[in-house]
Amino acid sequence: MKTKKVLTANLKPGMVSCEAAYTSSNHLVIQSNTTLTLDIIDKLKYYAIRSIKVYVPEIDENVSPEQDTALEGTAPDIEGLTYFERIQQSEQFIEFKDSVTQSVENFKEQLNDIVTKDNISGICDDMLHEVDTILSKSRNSLHLLDMLQCLRGFDDMTYMHSMNVALICSVIGSWSGFPKEEMKVLLLCGLLHDIGKLKIAPDIIQKPGKLTEFEFQQVRSHPMLGYEILRPKKLDNRIKLAALQHHEKFNGKGYPRGLTGPEISNFSSIVTVADIYDAMTSNRVYRRGICPFKVIETLEKEKDLYEPSILYLFMKRTIEAYINTEVLLSNGEKGKVVLLNQSMLSRPIVIAGKKTYDLSKDTSVDIDALI
Ligand SMILES: [Fe+2]
Repeated sequence: MKTKKVLTANLKPGMVSCEAAYTSSNHLVIQSNTTLTLDIIDKLKYYAIRSIKVYVPEIDENVSPEQDTALEGTAPDIEGLTYFERIQQSEQFIEFKDSVTQSVENFKEQLNDIVTKDNISGICDDMLHEVDTILSKSRNSLHLLDMLQCLRGFDDMTYMHSMNVALICSVIGSWSGFPKEEMKVLLLCGLLHDIGKLKIAPDIIQKPGKLTEFEFQQVRSHPMLGYEILRPKKLDNRIKLAALQHHEKFNGKGYPRGLTGPEISNFSSIVTVADIYDAMTSNRVYRRGICPFKVIETLEKEKDLYEPSILYLFMKRTIEAYINTEVLLSNGEKGKVVLLNQSMLSRPIVIAGKKTYDLSKDTSVDIDALI
């Protein structure tokens, strides 16, 4: 059977590799003769493997037109990649990803030490150092959020999730102008918010399918369990409250206590926004070709659940980064975001050729993807 080199960005599920693929540090990512799935393709992207050789059926009718144009030579090169694929191919992202992978390894140990040890101030300093190392790999807050989205495709375990939430908290904290000492507290709120999950059986936490009522109640107990772990420790009270309150909702519809707006600590509310943003962007539905406008649209629909000033600041600053970005509209046209609608951030004004779409008024057209 013939073989051809295909850019990772153009691989399709069902193609079969005809050679093994290795990372730059020579770790095996896939064997030869592997039938590709979306997860495997994500894995290749994660390790920044630019292309692999796949088998091509001899008889042309077995190759779909889509597969055919994916072959290197006829496929678009780096300029043909999407917004997030271009980030994934950048050297800065590869460095960032290595740094996060290493930090999450260290963080696993540190988080477990927090549960078992009494004197934890040294561990907290070490954790903050890990966050600083990751932050130093990104140019600015928005670049950090973009790179975090590109890291998707891996198991979103408690550790990775907690690190992500801390990094997103750092973005919100810096946009809020928090001084350094407050930032440290906020980062620890993010790092430790889900620590209660370490007390729950991993097979429940990692269960992919629907939870039984018992399992559901177990998972819902993690804020209380986290608070119990942190309560006797010498820590800023806001860190303990973030563990306890990060599933409370501004409208009182959260748990464990059903607290409402002013009863919830401000730092807990920041963790809640960071937590939901991470959950949404790690959701499988969003993973491929994630579109920030769709994420913001969901947050706008759920706005009653979150502290309004934190949510608005986060949404506005996040979406402002995409002014002047090329987008693909749901009617197939390509355009450019030119202006935001302050009351409907997910539906900006887009110019496509000679047409101007005010998406806040024209609801028949959506932004499907960044290009
Ligand atoms: Fe949680």
